[in-house]
Amino acid sequence: MNVTVTLPTVEETHAFGRRLAGVLRAGDLLLLTGPLGAGKTALTQGIGAGLGVRGEITSPTFVIARVHRPDPARGGTVGLVHADAYRLGDAADPRAEIDDLDLDASVDDSVTVVEWGEGLVEQLVDAHLRVRIDRRDDDSRTVELEPVGGDWAHRLAGLG
Ligand SMILES: Nc1ncnc2c1ncn2[C@@H]1O[C@H](COP(=O)(O)OP(=O)(O)OP(=O)(O)O)[C@@H](O)[C@H]1O
Ligand SMILES: [Mg+2]
Repeated sequence: MNVTVTLPTVEETHAFGRRLAGVLRAGDLLLLTGPLGAGKTALTQGIGAGLGVRGEITSPTFVIARVHRPDPARGGTVGLVHADAYRLGDAADPRAEIDDLDLDASVDDSVTVVEWGEGLVEQLVDAHLRVRIDRRDDDSRTVELEPVGGDWAHRLAGLG
């Protein structure tokens, strides 16, 4: 079942990302969709804070992907790979392509977040979490989490 939340401010989007990080583990793939300025990077910043990773999380628009290593001082144990789908090809599984980049971080050992943008069709076989962010007229955001395969549905229970 999908989980939908309304997030009135960017601070609440960060806080929701931190909560979401609590159910994430190494090997996870999150696909963030939504128009320009929806808040995909803002949500990823919250996820990174929750995971306790190093480095400022910014839009990966000018690089294919960026690795944020876990910071043990902040309780981090799992790294974050943050990628922009526009820079990836149309491979069925972005993780395979990200691994090919030789980032010195394996997607199996990291949480991978791909800013998927608007209108890209995904035909992924692998389990992943779809995260759809939309901006409403009052500037709040709705975030819809759609579990795809794996044990995502189970893990989302209690997040709503
Ligand atoms: N409730 C909210 N949640 C998230 N962002 C918000 C919210 N309210 C306002 N904002 C603002 O909206 C902007 C979201 O920008 P962000 O870079 O996260 O979007 P994006 O979806 O990553 O865009 P892009 O497609 O360009 O990568 C930020 O400037 C943020 O401060
Ligand atoms: Mg962005």
